[in-house]
Amino acid sequence: MSIQILDKVKRESDFESMVNLTYQSFKKPSNYKSIIDAEIELGTLLYEMKHKLLFAYDSEKFVGFAFHGWGKFEEHVYKNAAYATGIQYTPNSATISMIAVTPEERRKGVGKKLVEMVMEESKKSGAQHIYVTCFGGKEGSSYSMFKSLGYQDLSGEGFCYQDGSKGVQLYKEL
Ligand SMILES: CC(C)(COP(=O)(O)OP(=O)(O)OC[C@H]1O[C@@H](n2cnc3c(N)ncnc32)[C@H](O)[C@@H]1OP(=O)(O)O)[C@@H](O)C(=O)NCCC(=O)NCCS
Repeated sequence: MSIQILDKVKRESDFESMVNLTYQSFKKPSNYKSIIDAEIELGTLLYEMKHKLLFAYDSEKFVGFAFHGWGKFEEHVYKNAAYATGIQYTPNSATISMIAVTPEERRKGVGKKLVEMVMEESKKSGAQHIYVTCFGGKEGSSYSMFKSLGYQDLSGEGFCYQDGSKGVQLYKEL
């Protein structure tokens, strides 16, 4: 497998694959009623919250994506947790707001590559910390991935998803 991370799609149809992947991956915690809800959430991240989007390819095949950014909403979500943990909160931070890899390509290093690229870009733009919320708690697939990349637990209540489940919040110094 040769993984390439790009900031644009190779084909317009890859947007559709991204919407499908989002719906399949996040329908439970986000309570999506239909694929349109996934499309709306992606549109909000991209156009309203102005988060950046990275695409992962295995040669010509779309295999995953990650959103990252920072704004008022993210500040609200992570500021108190940072204080509660005892780390110095800086408004110049970053967050991975969404990440998913196509089911058939999981456990091949794609997720890790996407996270590494987000960290590299965030550091270049001056962020000192990066935050993320993992759904599925400590048993979920993403928690182990972020821990293996040196992320640490934040204190506090965690984040409550639309279905009532709790997300574990993590951070890493860049
Ligand atoms: C989380 C996700 C993005 C990981 O992507 P991935 O490409 O499979 O991750 P990687 O192959 O880079 O895995 C890196 C490490 O994470 C851990 N990991 C990944 N998936 C795991 C799983 N299902 N169970 C346990 N550990 C897991 C392992 O330590 C793995 O290293 P290893 O394979 O050498 O043991 C992917 O499982 C996914 O899309 N899940 C659904 C959406 C989701 O949960 N997104 C995260 C929201 S916070």
